[in-house]
Amino acid sequence: MTQSVDERPASSTGPAPALEVRDGRKSFGAVHALRGVDITVRVGEVTALVGDNGAGKSTMIKCIAGIFPFDSGAVLVNGTKAHIHSPAEASAAGIEVVYQDLALCDNLDIVHNMFLGREMKKGLRLDETAMETKAADVLASLSVRTVRSIRQQVASLSGGQRQTVAIARAVLWNSKIVILDEPTAALGVAQTEQVLQLVRRLADAGLAVLLISHNMNDVFEVADSINVLYLGQTAAQVRTSDSTRAKIIELITSGAASTDEPPLSGRRTDAAATTTNGSNPA
Ligand SMILES: Nc1ncnc2c1ncn2[C@@H]1O[C@H](COP(=O)(O)OP(=O)(O)OP(=O)(O)O)[C@@H](O)[C@H]1O
Ligand SMILES: [Mg+2]
Repeated sequence: MTQSVDERPASSTGPAPALEVRDGRKSFGAVHALRGVDITVRVGEVTALVGDNGAGKSTMIKCIAGIFPFDSGAVLVNGTKAHIHSPAEASAAGIEVVYQDLALCDNLDIVHNMFLGREMKKGLRLDETAMETKAADVLASLSVRTVRSIRQQVASLSGGQRQTVAIARAVLWNSKIVILDEPTAALGVAQTEQVLQLVRRLADAGLAVLLISHNMNDVFEVADSINVLYLGQTAAQVRTSDSTRAKIIELITSGAASTDEPPLSGRRTDAAATTTNGSNPA
């Protein structure tokens, strides 16, 4: 990581963002997957991360989550530089990721899935009562009412309910920053709506939410801010209220918007010029 990054930008007012990445870069051999990414994720907000296939969204999330660290750049948590080199370090920094495959165990019930790998114990035995109470509390705090019983096997749940369990599991661990990778990709209309409402509630409950999505309807329904990746670079981060679908789609497909939209982060207005000169890393 570079050591020259200021802990707080001079222009900042109010609390530091929950999560920031500055000039993150990552290569896999000759493939430059990330060639300068910047993102700001604030408490109480949903920040959407969008971009075409191969733009680098998953790579960026994996770097933030410590699966593999950035080659260079800085990650700041609450304004302080964080050194995240493993998923455990990301967890310790309050960052939880809900991956698209969810990694739930079909043959276990909701409670056991929520505590998978971090079971509560009483002596040598599992503390079933404590886990059940905590799981019920978290689901209630998220106003999840669609599951019949928290002792139901996950195999019997719908896609939306499975997503809910995975999100609740992330929230259980005192996480401050929750990253969701395409949470509605496999869902129907009604389930998508339920999950989006849950995503909004997470932010309203004071978490910082980073939502990866291909779906402009989802993005414009729940996101406060939209960050666009183009060929491994941040094209812009804009307030949703200041933008339109057409502008975001233009940013996704060309790396630049033809109108004068001020980028929130203000750093990478030159993205189009630099990315069109570079080769597509995909
Ligand atoms: N482990 C890896 N080894 C080599 N190249 C990789 C690896 N992971 C990702 N890449 C490359 O990095 C680039 C970005 O990939 P990434 O998966 O981050 O894109 P994405 O934005 O998540 O795309 P999608 O929308 O299809 O999920 C692609 O060119 C991809 O081939
Ligand atoms: Mg991906």
